[in-house]
Amino acid sequence: VLVNRAAAGATPAVKQSADGVPALVGTGQQVPLLPSGTAPYCNLDHAASTAPLVAVRDAVERFLGWYSSVHRGAGFKSQVASAAYEGARHAVALFVGARLDDVVIFTRNTTDSTNLLATCLPPGRQVLAFAFEHHANLLPWRRHILHQLTVPTSPGDLLTQLEAALRARKTDLVVMSGASNVTGELTPLGEIASLCHSHGARLLVDAAQLAPHRPINMETDDLDYVAFSGHKLYAPYGAGALIGRADWLDRGRPYLEGGGAVELVTLDDVLWKAGPERHEAGSPNVVGAVALGAACQTLSGYGVPRLAEAEAALHDYARSRLQEIPGLRLYSIWPFEHPHIGVLTFNLDGFHYSLLAAILSAEHGIGVRDGCFCAHPLMVHLLGIEPDEVRRLHREVARGNRSEIPGAVRASLGLDTTRHDVDRLVDAMARISAEGPRWTYRQPAGATSYVPAPDPRPWPPMPEGILLQP
Ligand SMILES: Cc1ncc(COP(=O)(O)O)c(C=O)c1O
Repeated sequence: VLVNRAAAGATPAVKQSADGVPALVGTGQQVPLLPSGTAPYCNLDHAASTAPLVAVRDAVERFLGWYSSVHRGAGFKSQVASAAYEGARHAVALFVGARLDDVVIFTRNTTDSTNLLATCLPPGRQVLAFAFEHHANLLPWRRHILHQLTVPTSPGDLLTQLEAALRARKTDLVVMSGASNVTGELTPLGEIASLCHSHGARLLVDAAQLAPHRPINMETDDLDYVAFSGHKLYAPYGAGALIGRADWLDRGRPYLEGGGAVELVTLDDVLWKAGPERHEAGSPNVVGAVALGAACQTLSGYGVPRLAEAEAALHDYARSRLQEIPGLRLYSIWPFEHPHIGVLTFNLDGFHYSLLAAILSAEHGIGVRDGCFCAHPLMVHLLGIEPDEVRRLHREVARGNRSEIPGAVRASLGLDTTRHDVDRLVDAMARISAEGPRWTYRQPAGATSYVPAPDPRPWPPMPEGILLQP
């Protein structure tokens, strides 16, 4: 059990649960149900985005009184804000075990970080990726020469394929997720890094899913670059990070061109800065950076290995319980004995994945993700979709019909997930499997998602000026 929800209350005022796990804002929030009633929200969608840590919210609130421009202001508040911004950079570096000379660049998120590095590489570089990557770690590389390797059948197959590809051509960069956002497998990063380096290639780790769940040590594992998002790490204030070797970043094309990134501008020339400022032109997201730094400190202070251990036990429990449900198919790239983060992706025979997600939400107060999880090539592999069918779906989508896109449901665990949450999911799935829905749902023409029809659930009050309904 990760969080004592009763102790935490609907909106935790405490920074941690009875067993010391850092608490999140909004755990246990009541949500309306169909046909009637309310339930505490069961958030099983942490892989998409997380609520802030209470400690992060508090750090932001304290910082806001000191908020000011960074780096260019002589005022006292500017100096305090600049120190906080740079302190946050340091906290991020410590969190990922960066080397002393690594650069930490604040970005918006992982997508921004991979795009930043792709912009820095001189055109025409050779990049290697496996087809199981999230689109954020596939698409930015297509502007270079990207070789896409087939989804490996095991970690051994991954290393074999990678070695063959590295031998076959001179490669500049290998890009690899540290943990799959679809099925949760952890990749053997230390071995991958040494293989890359023995062939003169560098390694970028997409740590969007790894960072919230497992410790990262860039120095020990010899990882060249790491990218991750604050909003998946309990700091949803709009900042992410790219950390890594200075040479490419200091020589590469500035990601954003403008004030702050330059030493000097003349009418026909620019002297660009080195270091993080080179890529952080304009007024940066200082609040986001402070939030990200606070999240890194809070998680390090508690101990990411402790979190990982508790999550692994909960994941095993969830997997074995879900497997009890007749007709439920769990997906995995590699056999389950390989280590996974707390992600479980499944389908239930006879039910559209989006209908399942809609029922779980409307009737059970359970939030999951459904669809293809921004990893279309991997989903094609996992669902066994034939090339002819992929071409047919491509044609359908191109003419505006998204209703036939295949997919699955993903439940993902986080800091505030309890055994009780897992039991709620399993009980709900068992009930849906046995009795079907208790409400009516429809799939709007051409759309992928099912929605309750009608949907009389009341919206919560929001601050004035924020309109929830059209
Ligand atoms: C593995 C992985 N990489 C990259 C991303 C993109 O992250 P963001 O949307 O924060 O840019 C995600 C988001 O789900 C992800 O799971």
